[in-house]
Amino acid sequence: MPPTIFSPDLLKDKVALITGGGTGICRGITEAFAAHGCRTVITSRKQDVLDATAAEITAVSGTACLGVAADVRKLDQVEHAVARTLETFGRLDIVVNGAAGNFLCPAASLSPNGFRTVLEIDTIGTWNVTRTAFDAWLKDHGGHVLSISATLHYGGTPFQLHASVAKAGVDAMTRNLAVEWGPLGIRVNAIAPGPIDHTEGMDRLAPGELRDKFIQGIPLRRFGKIEEIANTALFVVSDAAPYLTGAVIVVDGGAWLNTGAGFV
Ligand code: COA
Repeated sequence: MPPTIFSPDLLKDKVALITGGGTGICRGITEAFAAHGCRTVITSRKQDVLDATAAEITAVSGTACLGVAADVRKLDQVEHAVARTLETFGRLDIVVNGAAGNFLCPAASLSPNGFRTVLEIDTIGTWNVTRTAFDAWLKDHGGHVLSISATLHYGGTPFQLHASVAKAGVDAMTRNLAVEWGPLGIRVNAIAPGPIDHTEGMDRLAPGELRDKFIQGIPLRRFGKIEEIANTALFVVSDAAPYLTGAVIVVDGGAWLNTGAGFV
Protein backbone atom coordinates (compact mmCIF):
# COMPACT_ATOMS: atom_id res chain seq x y z
CA MET A 1 0.00 0.00 0.00
CA PRO A 2 1.33 3.52 -0.78
CA PRO A 3 1.89 5.87 2.18
CA THR A 4 -1.30 7.59 3.35
CA ILE A 5 -1.96 11.09 4.58
CA PHE A 6 -5.09 9.88 6.37
CA SER A 7 -5.33 8.30 9.80
CA PRO A 8 -5.06 4.51 9.46
CA ASP A 9 -8.31 4.30 11.49
CA LEU A 10 -10.23 6.63 9.16
CA LEU A 11 -12.86 3.98 8.28
CA LYS A 12 -12.41 1.65 11.26
CA ASP A 13 -15.49 -0.51 11.95
CA LYS A 14 -17.16 0.53 8.68
CA VAL A 15 -18.33 -1.84 5.96
CA ALA A 16 -18.41 -1.00 2.26
CA LEU A 17 -19.96 -2.70 -0.76
CA ILE A 18 -18.02 -1.80 -3.90
CA THR A 19 -19.34 -2.81 -7.31
CA GLY A 20 -16.66 -3.23 -9.94
CA GLY A 21 -14.19 -3.69 -7.07
CA GLY A 22 -12.29 -6.58 -8.66
CA THR A 23 -10.22 -4.41 -11.01
CA GLY A 24 -9.19 -0.88 -11.94
CA ILE A 25 -10.29 2.24 -10.10
CA CYS A 26 -12.69 0.42 -7.81
CA ARG A 27 -10.07 -2.12 -6.84
CA GLY A 28 -7.91 0.86 -5.88
CA ILE A 29 -10.76 2.31 -3.82
CA THR A 30 -11.21 -1.07 -2.12
CA GLU A 31 -7.50 -1.26 -1.29
CA ALA A 32 -7.57 2.24 0.16
CA PHE A 33 -10.69 1.58 2.22
CA ALA A 34 -9.21 -1.68 3.54
CA ALA A 35 -5.94 0.02 4.43
CA HIS A 36 -7.96 2.42 6.58
CA GLY A 37 -9.84 -0.25 8.52
CA CYS A 38 -12.94 -0.75 6.36
CA ARG A 39 -14.21 -4.27 5.72
CA THR A 40 -15.23 -4.63 2.11
CA VAL A 41 -17.39 -6.68 -0.23
CA ILE A 42 -16.49 -6.43 -3.91
CA THR A 43 -18.70 -7.46 -6.81
CA SER A 44 -18.36 -8.00 -10.53
CA ARG A 45 -19.44 -10.70 -12.93
CA LYS A 46 -16.27 -12.79 -12.47
CA GLN A 47 -15.99 -14.75 -9.21
CA ASP A 48 -12.42 -15.91 -9.96
CA VAL A 49 -11.18 -12.32 -10.39
CA LEU A 50 -13.01 -11.27 -7.23
CA ASP A 51 -11.57 -14.15 -5.21
CA ALA A 52 -8.01 -13.32 -6.24
CA THR A 53 -8.44 -9.60 -5.52
CA ALA A 54 -10.21 -10.22 -2.20
CA ALA A 55 -7.50 -12.63 -1.02
CA GLU A 56 -4.73 -10.15 -1.89
CA ILE A 57 -6.46 -7.22 -0.23
CA THR A 58 -7.20 -9.21 2.92
CA ALA A 59 -3.59 -10.41 3.11
CA VAL A 60 -2.01 -7.00 2.53
CA SER A 61 -4.35 -4.89 4.67
CA GLY A 62 -5.23 -7.39 7.38
CA THR A 63 -8.85 -6.30 6.94
CA ALA A 64 -11.45 -8.72 5.58
CA CYS A 65 -12.45 -8.40 1.93
CA LEU A 66 -15.04 -10.73 0.38
CA GLY A 67 -15.86 -11.23 -3.32
CA VAL A 68 -19.47 -11.93 -4.31
CA ALA A 69 -20.30 -12.29 -8.00
CA ALA A 70 -23.23 -10.10 -9.04
CA ASP A 71 -24.24 -8.50 -12.31
CA VAL A 72 -25.66 -5.09 -11.33
CA ARG A 73 -28.30 -5.50 -14.07
CA LYS A 74 -29.81 -8.49 -12.23
CA LEU A 75 -31.78 -7.44 -9.19
CA ASP A 76 -31.75 -10.91 -7.60
CA GLN A 77 -27.93 -11.01 -7.80
CA VAL A 78 -27.68 -7.53 -6.30
CA GLU A 79 -30.01 -8.54 -3.47
CA HIS A 80 -27.86 -11.60 -2.85
CA ALA A 81 -24.68 -9.47 -2.65
CA VAL A 82 -26.27 -7.04 -0.19
CA ALA A 83 -27.62 -9.94 1.91
CA ARG A 84 -24.17 -11.59 1.98
CA THR A 85 -22.65 -8.30 3.11
CA LEU A 86 -25.05 -8.03 6.02
CA GLU A 87 -24.75 -11.73 6.96
CA THR A 88 -20.95 -11.56 6.89
CA PHE A 89 -20.24 -8.18 8.44
CA GLY A 90 -23.52 -7.16 10.10
CA ARG A 91 -23.73 -3.68 8.64
CA LEU A 92 -23.37 -1.65 5.41
CA ASP A 93 -22.14 1.91 5.78
CA ILE A 94 -20.82 2.75 2.34
CA VAL A 95 -21.95 1.80 -1.17
CA VAL A 96 -19.60 2.52 -4.06
CA ASN A 97 -21.20 2.23 -7.49
CA GLY A 98 -18.27 1.52 -9.76
CA ALA A 99 -19.53 -1.16 -12.13
CA ALA A 100 -19.58 0.24 -15.66
CA GLY A 101 -19.45 -0.87 -19.26
CA ASN A 102 -18.14 1.12 -22.17
CA PHE A 103 -16.67 1.00 -25.65
CA LEU A 104 -15.90 3.47 -28.39
CA CYS A 105 -18.64 3.57 -31.00
CA PRO A 106 -19.91 6.29 -33.37
CA ALA A 107 -23.57 7.10 -32.68
CA ALA A 108 -24.41 6.17 -36.26
CA SER A 109 -23.21 2.61 -35.62
CA LEU A 110 -24.56 2.21 -32.10
CA SER A 111 -27.34 -0.37 -31.98
CA PRO A 112 -30.34 0.10 -29.69
CA ASN A 113 -29.13 -2.88 -27.69
CA GLY A 114 -25.62 -1.43 -27.34
CA PHE A 115 -27.10 1.85 -26.08
CA ARG A 116 -29.44 0.02 -23.69
CA THR A 117 -26.68 -2.27 -22.39
CA VAL A 118 -24.51 0.62 -21.19
CA LEU A 119 -27.47 2.39 -19.59
CA GLU A 120 -28.49 -0.85 -17.92
CA ILE A 121 -25.06 -1.33 -16.38
CA ASP A 122 -24.14 2.25 -15.50
CA THR A 123 -27.44 3.91 -14.65
CA ILE A 124 -29.98 1.21 -13.86
CA GLY A 125 -27.28 -0.91 -12.21
CA THR A 126 -26.37 2.03 -9.97
CA TRP A 127 -30.01 2.38 -9.00
CA ASN A 128 -30.45 -1.37 -8.41
CA VAL A 129 -27.55 -1.41 -5.96
CA THR A 130 -28.37 1.90 -4.30
CA ARG A 131 -32.06 1.06 -3.87
CA THR A 132 -31.33 -2.41 -2.50
CA ALA A 133 -28.78 -1.10 0.01
CA PHE A 134 -31.23 1.63 1.01
CA ASP A 135 -33.98 -0.87 1.79
CA ALA A 136 -31.70 -3.33 3.54
CA TRP A 137 -29.70 -0.91 5.70
CA LEU A 138 -29.22 2.74 4.79
CA LYS A 139 -32.77 3.95 5.37
CA ASP A 140 -32.63 2.92 9.03
CA HIS A 141 -28.97 3.64 9.80
CA GLY A 142 -27.76 6.34 7.41
CA GLY A 143 -24.55 5.99 5.46
CA HIS A 144 -23.00 6.96 2.21
CA VAL A 145 -23.52 6.34 -1.51
CA LEU A 146 -20.61 7.19 -3.77
CA SER A 147 -20.95 6.68 -7.52
CA ILE A 148 -18.22 6.78 -10.13
CA SER A 149 -19.33 9.14 -12.87
CA ALA A 150 -17.44 10.75 -15.77
CA THR A 151 -16.96 14.11 -17.47
CA LEU A 152 -18.01 12.87 -20.94
CA HIS A 153 -21.39 14.60 -20.87
CA TYR A 154 -20.10 18.06 -19.88
CA GLY A 155 -19.41 18.63 -23.54
CA GLY A 156 -20.10 16.49 -26.57
CA THR A 157 -17.68 13.58 -26.54
CA PRO A 158 -17.36 11.74 -29.85
CA PHE A 159 -18.19 8.02 -29.88
CA GLN A 160 -19.43 8.17 -26.29
CA LEU A 161 -23.16 8.87 -26.65
CA HIS A 162 -24.17 5.80 -24.63
CA ALA A 163 -21.76 6.41 -21.74
CA SER A 164 -22.45 10.17 -21.71
CA VAL A 165 -26.20 9.62 -21.38
CA ALA A 166 -25.63 6.92 -18.76
CA LYS A 167 -23.35 9.03 -16.58
CA ALA A 168 -25.61 12.10 -16.90
CA GLY A 169 -28.24 9.86 -15.29
CA VAL A 170 -25.82 8.93 -12.50
CA ASP A 171 -25.20 12.62 -11.78
CA ALA A 172 -28.93 13.32 -11.70
CA MET A 173 -29.42 10.40 -9.32
CA THR A 174 -26.66 11.73 -7.08
CA ARG A 175 -28.29 15.15 -6.76
CA ASN A 176 -31.86 13.91 -6.37
CA LEU A 177 -30.98 11.31 -3.76
CA ALA A 178 -28.83 13.78 -1.82
CA VAL A 179 -31.95 15.94 -1.46
CA GLU A 180 -34.39 13.13 -0.69
CA TRP A 181 -32.15 11.10 1.62
CA GLY A 182 -30.18 13.85 3.37
CA PRO A 183 -32.80 13.97 6.16
CA LEU A 184 -32.17 10.25 6.76
CA GLY A 185 -28.46 10.82 7.37
CA ILE A 186 -27.42 9.48 3.98
CA ARG A 187 -24.81 11.42 2.03
CA VAL A 188 -24.81 10.85 -1.73
CA ASN A 189 -21.87 11.98 -3.85
CA ALA A 190 -20.03 11.11 -7.05
CA ILE A 191 -16.50 11.31 -8.37
CA ALA A 192 -15.93 12.05 -12.05
CA PRO A 193 -12.46 10.77 -12.90
CA GLY A 194 -10.62 11.98 -15.95
CA PRO A 195 -8.19 9.77 -17.85
CA ILE A 196 -6.67 7.40 -15.28
CA ASP A 197 -3.68 5.21 -16.05
CA HIS A 198 -3.75 1.42 -15.75
CA THR A 199 -7.52 1.09 -16.15
CA GLU A 200 -9.45 -0.96 -18.67
CA GLY A 201 -11.36 2.18 -19.56
CA MET A 202 -8.27 4.08 -20.68
CA ASP A 203 -6.80 1.04 -22.45
CA ARG A 204 -10.03 0.85 -24.43
CA LEU A 205 -10.68 4.55 -24.94
CA ALA A 206 -7.14 5.85 -25.46
CA PRO A 207 -5.10 3.02 -26.91
CA GLY A 208 -1.32 3.45 -27.39
CA GLU A 209 -1.27 5.76 -30.39
CA LEU A 210 -3.81 8.22 -28.91
CA ARG A 211 -2.10 8.48 -25.55
CA ASP A 212 0.32 11.33 -26.29
CA LYS A 213 -2.39 13.33 -28.02
CA PHE A 214 -4.63 12.88 -25.01
CA ILE A 215 -1.93 14.03 -22.59
CA GLN A 216 -1.36 17.24 -24.58
CA GLY A 217 -4.97 18.20 -23.81
CA ILE A 218 -4.62 17.73 -20.05
CA PRO A 219 -3.54 20.90 -18.20
CA LEU A 220 -1.55 18.85 -15.65
CA ARG A 221 0.08 17.03 -18.60
CA ARG A 222 -0.28 13.49 -17.35
CA PHE A 223 -2.87 10.80 -16.78
CA GLY A 224 -4.22 10.42 -13.27
CA LYS A 225 -3.32 7.60 -10.92
CA ILE A 226 -5.76 5.13 -9.42
CA GLU A 227 -4.66 6.12 -5.91
CA GLU A 228 -5.59 9.74 -6.63
CA ILE A 229 -9.19 8.68 -7.17
CA ALA A 230 -9.01 6.36 -4.16
CA ASN A 231 -7.78 9.19 -1.93
CA THR A 232 -10.68 11.36 -3.08
CA ALA A 233 -13.10 8.53 -2.30
CA LEU A 234 -11.59 8.14 1.17
CA PHE A 235 -12.05 11.83 1.87
CA VAL A 236 -15.62 11.94 0.53
CA VAL A 237 -16.96 9.01 2.57
CA SER A 238 -15.06 9.82 5.76
CA ASP A 239 -15.84 12.07 8.70
CA ALA A 240 -13.55 14.63 7.09
CA ALA A 241 -16.47 15.58 4.81
CA PRO A 242 -19.65 15.39 6.90
CA TYR A 243 -21.32 18.35 5.18
CA LEU A 244 -20.58 17.18 1.64
CA THR A 245 -23.55 15.79 -0.25
CA GLY A 246 -24.94 16.01 -3.77
CA ALA A 247 -21.49 16.80 -5.13
CA VAL A 248 -19.93 15.46 -8.30
CA ILE A 249 -16.22 15.94 -7.70
CA VAL A 250 -14.15 16.12 -10.86
CA VAL A 251 -10.65 14.64 -10.55
CA ASP A 252 -9.21 14.98 -14.04
CA GLY A 253 -6.13 17.20 -14.01
CA GLY A 254 -8.29 19.95 -15.53
CA ALA A 255 -8.88 17.90 -18.69
CA TRP A 256 -12.53 18.67 -19.39
CA LEU A 257 -12.04 22.42 -18.90
CA ASN A 258 -9.53 22.62 -21.70
CA THR A 259 -11.44 23.86 -24.73
CA GLY A 260 -8.31 25.52 -26.10
CA ALA A 261 -8.14 23.26 -29.17
CA GLY A 262 -4.41 22.79 -28.75
CA PHE A 263 -3.47 26.45 -27.96
CA VAL A 264 -1.89 25.45 -24.65
N1 COA B 1 -19.07 -1.43 -30.35
C1 COA B 1 -20.37 -1.36 -30.64
N2 COA B 1 -21.33 -2.06 -29.98
C2 COA B 1 -20.92 -2.86 -28.98
C3 COA B 1 -19.57 -2.98 -28.60
C4 COA B 1 -18.61 -2.21 -29.33
N3 COA B 1 -17.32 -2.26 -29.06
N4 COA B 1 -19.48 -3.84 -27.54
C5 COA B 1 -20.74 -4.26 -27.28
N5 COA B 1 -21.59 -3.66 -28.14
C6 COA B 1 -23.02 -3.91 -28.28
C7 COA B 1 -23.23 -5.29 -28.83
O1 COA B 1 -23.07 -5.32 -30.22
C8 COA B 1 -24.64 -5.60 -28.38
O2 COA B 1 -25.60 -4.99 -29.21
P1 COA B 1 -26.34 -5.85 -30.42
O3 COA B 1 -27.09 -6.95 -29.72
O4 COA B 1 -27.23 -4.86 -31.07
O5 COA B 1 -25.25 -6.34 -31.30
C9 COA B 1 -24.71 -4.89 -27.05
O6 COA B 1 -23.67 -3.91 -27.01
C10 COA B 1 -24.50 -5.83 -25.89
O7 COA B 1 -23.24 -6.45 -26.06
P2 COA B 1 -22.86 -7.81 -25.34
O8 COA B 1 -21.45 -8.12 -25.63
O9 COA B 1 -23.90 -8.84 -25.66
O10 COA B 1 -23.12 -7.40 -23.81
P3 COA B 1 -22.35 -7.78 -22.52
O11 COA B 1 -23.33 -7.57 -21.44
O12 COA B 1 -21.66 -9.09 -22.57
O13 COA B 1 -21.16 -6.69 -22.41
C11 COA B 1 -20.20 -4.53 -22.20
C12 COA B 1 -21.37 -5.34 -22.66
C13 COA B 1 -20.49 -3.11 -22.57
C14 COA B 1 -20.05 -4.56 -20.70
C15 COA B 1 -18.90 -5.05 -22.87
O14 COA B 1 -18.40 -4.09 -23.70
C16 COA B 1 -17.87 -5.47 -21.90
O15 COA B 1 -17.90 -6.58 -21.40
N6 COA B 1 -16.89 -4.58 -21.60
C17 COA B 1 -15.83 -4.86 -20.67
C18 COA B 1 -15.99 -4.19 -19.39
C19 COA B 1 -16.00 -2.72 -19.49
O16 COA B 1 -16.59 -2.16 -20.37
N7 COA B 1 -15.40 -2.07 -18.52
C20 COA B 1 -15.51 -0.67 -18.32
C21 COA B 1 -14.58 0.13 -19.12
S1 COA B 1 -14.89 1.85 -18.83
